[in-house]
Amino acid sequence: MNIWPLTADPAHSVGGVPLTEIAERFGTPVYVLDEEHVRHRCREYRKALHPHRVAYAGKAFLCRAMARWVDEEGLWLDVCSAGELALARSVGFPAERILLHGNGKTPEDLAAALEYGVGRIVVDSAGEVARLAALAGDRRHPRKVLVRVTPGVDPHVHRAMATGLEDQKFGLSLASGAAGDVVRRVLGQPALALAGLHCHLGSQIGEPDGYETAARRLVAFMAGFGGLPELNLGGGHAVAYRPDEHGLDVHTFAGRVVAAVAQECAVRGVPAPSLTVEPGRAIVASAGVTLYRVVAVKHGARTFVVVDGGMSDNPRPALYGSRYSVARIGPGSGAGEAPATVVGRHCEAGDVIAADVPLPADVRPGDLLAVPCTGAYHHSMASNYNQVARPPVVAVRGGRARPLVRRETLEDLIRRDVG
Ligand code: LLP
Repeated sequence: MNIWPLTADPAHSVGGVPLTEIAERFGTPVYVLDEEHVRHRCREYRKALHPHRVAYAGKAFLCRAMARWVDEEGLWLDVCSAGELALARSVGFPAERILLHGNGKTPEDLAAALEYGVGRIVVDSAGEVARLAALAGDRRHPRKVLVRVTPGVDPHVHRAMATGLEDQKFGLSLASGAAGDVVRRVLGQPALALAGLHCHLGSQIGEPDGYETAARRLVAFMAGFGGLPELNLGGGHAVAYRPDEHGLDVHTFAGRVVAAVAQECAVRGVPAPSLTVEPGRAIVASAGVTLYRVVAVKHGARTFVVVDGGMSDNPRPALYGSRYSVARIGPGSGAGEAPATVVGRHCEAGDVIAADVPLPADVRPGDLLAVPCTGAYHHSMASNYNQVARPPVVAVRGGRARPLVRRETLEDLIRRDVG
């Protein structure tokens, strides 16, 4: 699926299933996910980066089916908690293709990763090296570790998504010498094997330049240790949320970064490391569309179109000022378009899905609205704010729709309340 046929395809089908049919069968709000599109993006990434590795960042969206698709498509999986790992494990995702991340891994996270035997653990602090080595224990089978380095590159994205700069919580600073210190600590632990370095510049990055700079800096740093086998450049590739935007083209990215690494390695006289990238959003965002029903329409200084979901299923506008497009689904009425602000049902003025978007002037309660490009960081960041139940995830493929995650019930909501 591309996200924009919503306006071009009169049946408004995704994966061969009309969206109206999905809304009737599963109710609203509902997250719809196009399986073929996810698989297609996985293949595109693998092809563009061959022979290097692609690890899907599970934080963008994870459920059992998604873990299976990623496995079947031969990607690695990046997890950042014992919870994400448990989900991967529940479908037998191969341990050797899992990477564990986290700036604050708990003893449970580390123990679960060691027990399952994940392929790489990305170390994020000096203290973690000692904790991990103590837990790993066995010197005969050292655990492969990457050290997360802060390359000091500004990705020019929303502050909450910028992680390559010095003044944020992730990674070990190159500039201050902290990265070198932690690399030496890992080398000094017989229970750990240093496989290489990791960095993640941030998210929704539209240009490859920052990746090139970071790759060069990390290769130069590696050269100080005679070169290392692996370089993981993280994720963060931008996608187009709306028709006037463009994402980061994976072929351009791969070409530029591979060339920069090769050149820097030649200059430094070290062998080229194998590369890993960790896209989350770029794999799954455009495969998703959220459907809502209009609950109320209020005309005043602005037209507010109130839907039956909101910031509990899409917190991104409130968190990052993210902007979306909205389309009415169903037969056209011939009414002209007028600007409207689509808002949710939560008790906050900031509960906005899309401000000032064009919608048919006769939009009314009961209408079905679709918000494209909601496959990443929607289901995974959904909450129960106002005790609202989270929507189901429905996969579509070849004209069939099937539930992947069921809708939360009111019983689910009160089940954990034991007071
Ligand atoms: N690798 C690491 C170490 C990460 O921290 C992340 C995202 C990724 C890969 C994947 O980044 P992606 O390719 O999906 O941009 N919740 C936010 C974005 C924060 C992502 C945090 N880490 C959002 O809704 O946009």
